[in-house]
Amino acid sequence: MRRATLLLAGLLCGPLAHAADPSNAPSTAPSTAPPTAPTAAPLVIAHRGASGYLPEHTLAGYELAVRLGADYIEPDLQLTRDGVLVAIHDDTLPRTTNAAELFAPRNGGYKVSDFTLAEIKTLTVKPTGTGKTSHPGFVPRATELRVPTFDEVIALAKAQSVAAGRTIGIYPEAKQADPVMEDKILATLTQQRYASAADKVFIQSFSDVTVKSLDAKQRALGLTMPLILLAHAVTQPDGSAAVIVPGGRTLSLREVAAFANGVGMAIANPKYPLTKSFVDQAHAAGLAVHGWTFAKPDAGAAADEYKAFLQMGLDGMFSNYSDLAVSARDAFVAARTTAPR
Ligand code: G3P
Ligand code: CA
Repeated sequence: MRRATLLLAGLLCGPLAHAADPSNAPSTAPSTAPPTAPTAAPLVIAHRGASGYLPEHTLAGYELAVRLGADYIEPDLQLTRDGVLVAIHDDTLPRTTNAAELFAPRNGGYKVSDFTLAEIKTLTVKPTGTGKTSHPGFVPRATELRVPTFDEVIALAKAQSVAAGRTIGIYPEAKQADPVMEDKILATLTQQRYASAADKVFIQSFSDVTVKSLDAKQRALGLTMPLILLAHAVTQPDGSAAVIVPGGRTLSLREVAAFANGVGMAIANPKYPLTKSFVDQAHAAGLAVHGWTFAKPDAGAAADEYKAFLQMGLDGMFSNYSDLAVSARDAFVAARTTAPR
């Protein structure tokens, strides 16, 4: 059942269409699609929304990212003191909000988990990096820059799917290796009628323990939403590609393929370079490969970077500038389509 669902999903969703021959995968592997031609259109994933243009993890930022052509919007998730999933990257509030101006520190700091949702909803999200508080020519539906709940992000994805005439995917990240967070993510997604890749959803985590646990819980619940392990690439002494996970442990791609459908790889860490050999070996192991983070604001430099990684065979790109990613992706696909065989 799980395999059949994902076979269908693989036809609908780019990255899983890249999976290698299932006979090469371990018998416990999450189901993936059969070998096919390269992914039709590598995915553009709006990293923290349109974080290069507007405050990260805001409804306005997600909406702008959709307008700029993103396929998926990415909420990083933290839990409030009263147990609500909210979209915010850090486990503390001050970098991206005015919490330090409005509240006294709790337990010596500003941990998201020390504040209730009602308190967090009084905060304003600040721009970071190249972000601004508004974007030329864009008036968002939600003009207040608040920290959204996961439910609100999903509601935005659904509303924007209708407005855009295409299904906007969601790509939540469990920011804590916490079974309670896992349960709440799965409960929210189930309640919102996400069940498989066909619903355009990925769940990601840096914790292999969390991804393994999500895989086990999904199996028990009959769910097949694709799971992505975030990691850094490394080459083992025998030349085989592997990933580094928390604690500095190394996992082979075969081990990862036993509990995940893909890997989300750092693209810009010189200590752990992402190479074509890694991408090829991951595909051979049945894993989709997404890369983070495409953050160059200069159009020319960004185009070169996207092209280099697309030529390696990347299946998806987390970008702060969805418009630049879409341009590069579309040019890459067009060139591939017209190239003589
Ligand atoms: O989740 C992919 C990428 O977003 C990981 O980096 O720190 O932005 O969550 P971070
Ligand atoms: Ca993330």
